[in-house]
Amino acid sequence: MERDNNFYQQYFNILSEIERIKIVKFLKPLHKDLGPKYPSLQTPADIHTYPELREFVHRIQNVFVEFSRTRGLTKQYNINKCWSVFKKGTYRTWHTHPTNFSMVYYLDNPDNLGTIFKKEDQIISTQAPQNSLIIFPSSISHSAPVSKKSRYSIAIDFVESDTKQKEFEFSFVFMGQAIMRYDTPPDILKEINQTYEKLISKKKIPSWESHLIGKVKKEHSLYWGSSNETKHKKHNFLSQKVLDFFKSRVSHFVEWNKIKEYKCMINSVWVNEMKEGEYNPVHIHSGDIPSGLSSVLILKLPKSYGKEYARSDRPTNGQLQLLGNSSGQFCKTEYNPTVREGDFFLFPYDMRHGVYPFRGKGKRRTLGANFDVDYDPYEGGSGIK
Ligand SMILES: [Fe+2]
Ligand SMILES: [Fe+2]
Repeated sequence: MERDNNFYQQYFNILSEIERIKIVKFLKPLHKDLGPKYPSLQTPADIHTYPELREFVHRIQNVFVEFSRTRGLTKQYNINKCWSVFKKGTYRTWHTHPTNFSMVYYLDNPDNLGTIFKKEDQIISTQAPQNSLIIFPSSISHSAPVSKKSRYSIAIDFVESDTKQKEFEFSFVFMGQAIMRYDTPPDILKEINQTYEKLISKKKIPSWESHLIGKVKKEHSLYWGSSNETKHKKHNFLSQKVLDFFKSRVSHFVEWNKIKEYKCMINSVWVNEMKEGEYNPVHIHSGDIPSGLSSVLILKLPKSYGKEYARSDRPTNGQLQLLGNSSGQFCKTEYNPTVREGDFFLFPYDMRHGVYPFRGKGKRRTLGANFDVDYDPYEGGSGIK
């Protein structure tokens, strides 16, 4: 009787050599002795979530999609665990995994020996050149090969999900400037509103009107950290907790944009309180240096922006509008978010934005803040890495 060895499938040349070496270097120091239950050195089982392995994960997901297609699998399978193993030694460790499919990628495999399988008491050996991978059902008993040479491999477990198999994988490469929208924690929002109201009632707050472009009478400063004291003396009415909230979101924005080395300084924070008819024409921001992030935090909104003069199907009363700098085909140039109290928008200094007037009673209170971000646009922002 012929033995069916078609239970596994191999794929070759998964990564470029540069990518493979990068991953070897990155993973080597992460291997630890996990105790007697694990006879080899292993990394944690969530390395698929590490940004350094993003490209690798993308590649193996593509391979799995191809595997699914050739096997006629209709369900989608997601990575459940992913860990790297360093093995040296002439022992076998037969085991199965409690998942649907397992994958072994041979990261550094000097003698080309692959995973061995035990099926109906037969031992099946495989050859596995470095930079290849094998996929097999997790329920089949398997072991790393017996070898005197040390080897690094990455194990990946896939589990069935409820959704349908995707037709293809893709990467999204974004070439424009980003706007980030964050939620302000309720205690921070409350504290800023209370600080502002207290200062206003005590008339202790510096007017900011002359510094801003807005056609708004009530503009007041909460923080001036700029070294330019000809405009204003340094001052701060905000707690460390509020300042830390701003700093953490600015860091998030910068790091999300893959900038690794940077210095951030809060330049200024102020409050605009708009009443009926007031507005903020399209403008940009600046700080002590040319690069940085500007922001809008929605502190309080009127119950309604009033009746539109025309085209009520496309309302603009009281609306914040941000205009993107990219202007090529398919790019989005206008962003008109429907805002709610607590929304905090961060965007680059040179992104144009404005606020339309509204009608009726009530105030539209927002906080603006400028954050200088000093970074090297070539080293930090090239996006090559
Ligand atoms: Fe295994
Ligand atoms: Fe602004």
